[in-house]
Amino acid sequence: MNIYEIRGQFPILSRKIDGKPLVYLDNAATSQTPRCVVETINDMYFNHKSNVHRGVHTISQEATDIMEATREKVRQFINAQSTSEIIFTRGTTEAINLVASSYGDSLYTGDEIILTVMEHHSNIVPWQLLQRNKRLKIHVVPIDNDGNLDMNAYEDLFTENIRFVAVTHVSNVLGTINPVKEIIQIAHRYGVPVLIDGAQAAPHTKIDVQDLDADFYCFSSHKMYGPAGIGVLYGKEKRLSRMVPYQGGGEMIGNVSFEKTTFAELPFKFEAGTPDFVGIAAFGAAIDYINSIGLDNIADQELLLLDAATSQLMEIEGMRIFGTSDNKNGVISFLVGDINSYDMGVLLDKLGIAVRTGHHCAQPLMKRLGVTGTVRASFAFYNTLEEVNAFTQAVARVAKMF
Ligand code: ALA
Repeated sequence: MNIYEIRGQFPILSRKIDGKPLVYLDNAATSQTPRCVVETINDMYFNHKSNVHRGVHTISQEATDIMEATREKVRQFINAQSTSEIIFTRGTTEAINLVASSYGDSLYTGDEIILTVMEHHSNIVPWQLLQRNKRLKIHVVPIDNDGNLDMNAYEDLFTENIRFVAVTHVSNVLGTINPVKEIIQIAHRYGVPVLIDGAQAAPHTKIDVQDLDADFYCFSSHKMYGPAGIGVLYGKEKRLSRMVPYQGGGEMIGNVSFEKTTFAELPFKFEAGTPDFVGIAAFGAAIDYINSIGLDNIADQELLLLDAATSQLMEIEGMRIFGTSDNKNGVISFLVGDINSYDMGVLLDKLGIAVRTGHHCAQPLMKRLGVTGTVRASFAFYNTLEEVNAFTQAVARVAKMF
């Protein structure tokens, strides 16, 4: 893998901030986009813009074919059994909301569900919204001080009232890679379906939904070098086919009359309205791009960067790293002494370093960690060891200023 050649595909990585080379370490928030993906967007607008699944004319057919070819790429990418199981959404958030709303329709007052303390707000609030109509009880699996889920506490939660489990594959704050296969196996022993929030996993590791036996798996294009506004809900066909539609509108119907409306087959039952077929096409290009680099190469490079950054940061006096699991991916959350995360982030930005600060949409986790926010650096395979050095030297410099 020639990192410097690869970086040439991402013009933004050559930018300067305040005269300093940009070191982009906010990849867990969103990753950058290579030329081939942007070229696909242009090509769609210049040559293939037409509504999908609606026209008999040539360009409508082309746009439809390109969109459906992407559905097949996604199917292969996560090893789903069928393209009927691949629903395009606006992102992971919408995918989870879809399940909370549509699968949630089959839950009853008194039913109980399991989340974990490390969930992103997008895997907490949709379930709380469901509580408005049904008094569901939400159980929260705790973590240990390294940021590993307490699997005994998880299994102990199962009673006959537990109806659903929703858990993140990888924590966006701690980087912990959760044992989702085991989590699913335990839930299935009790006949309980499981949703996995894969937003922070799909860009970095091979996902095999059949091997995991996941009932639902959600992820976003924009964290995978693709455009924003596109996500995927994978759902087992037997689950999706029994669920009520999420939204009503064009293309999700079989037949409409004022007396009775029937719904389209999967996956279209869950795709009301004109989809972002341009973004979907570009997501297809992003998947091709990831495949051309290879997920193993991506993971190797990111782990190299994580290890180097972790050991360099640990040299800094007053450094606290949140998330020290043996099984983690390329995310480091930290604080130095009593320096506020926001202050650290602003000063790092002056040195060209882009990181995320604050609660990372995970306020319950912040409470568990006993902080209001952290600084988070998150790596992509296009980052270099030179950038890691620049980052850790900048953190040390800021630390000295206080
Ligand atoms: N979920 C994204 C993050 O963790 C936005 O930054």
